[in-house]
Amino acid sequence: MTDRDHVARQYRDDQHLATRISVWHPTADGRDPATEALAAVVAGAPHHVLEIGCGTGAFAARLADALPDAAVVPVDQSAHLVAMTATRGLEARVADAQDLPFADDAFDAVAALWMLYHVPDLHRALAEARRVLRPGGTFVAVTNGDEHVADLRRDAGGGPVLTHFSSENGEVALRAHFDDVRRDDLVTRAAFPDRDAALTYLDSSQEDVAWSLPRDGWPREYAGHVTVFVAR
Ligand SMILES: C[S@@+](CC[C@H](N)C(=O)[O-])C[C@H]1O[C@@H](n2cnc3c(N)ncnc32)[C@H](O)[C@@H]1O
Repeated sequence: MTDRDHVARQYRDDQHLATRISVWHPTADGRDPATEALAAVVAGAPHHVLEIGCGTGAFAARLADALPDAAVVPVDQSAHLVAMTATRGLEARVADAQDLPFADDAFDAVAALWMLYHVPDLHRALAEARRVLRPGGTFVAVTNGDEHVADLRRDAGGGPVLTHFSSENGEVALRAHFDDVRRDDLVTRAAFPDRDAALTYLDSSQEDVAWSLPRDGWPREYAGHVTVFVAR
């Protein structure tokens, strides 16, 4: 998950990311993690917001809509994804989470959605997020649990994805940098109309696994396990 070349290859364009995002549906009670993360950021009525690992800029665009008077700054290590984000009218820039090009206390809120598990030096990235956040500001991080689509991965001949920033270990990591850490655990749904859709989803992570799935029993749904952390 953190191999630099592998991560850079995966996000050279938005194709794999778009494939992965497209299968997801909200929880049984209609909640989705990005909307919960948005609400957590907006609740603090921030004037300066940083999003680290912005991908295609979808969340940054939602932030800008929800906070029309705020300066929203999306950053990502991928030049291609930064260029895509900029087409939304946002001032996106290339930056590494481990070495943020911003002054201390520059932001009222910092968001990092589904990206900390990719960062080789997690604690350096968390220290950077803390450094650029003003005292009392809000850090929102979203990540997956060990059992995230694990049943699909097992059915296809693989195992769960275990990372250094997950639902299971993320809280301990955050507590090393923030005094107050809250969490919201959500069970989402990945829907696959057919076997090919599931194989395309699995292939999008570009892992070295020969995935194989039965031809019968489609469409199928698998559970996703996601946590929204809010830290101050
Ligand atoms: C799974 S995608 C999530 C994108 C977006 N946050 C979303 O929720 O759709 C991970 C993103 O983190 C970016 N990324 C990975 N490592 C990074 C780093 N060290 N610094 C900045 N961005 C990074 C990738 O380029 C990619 O856009």
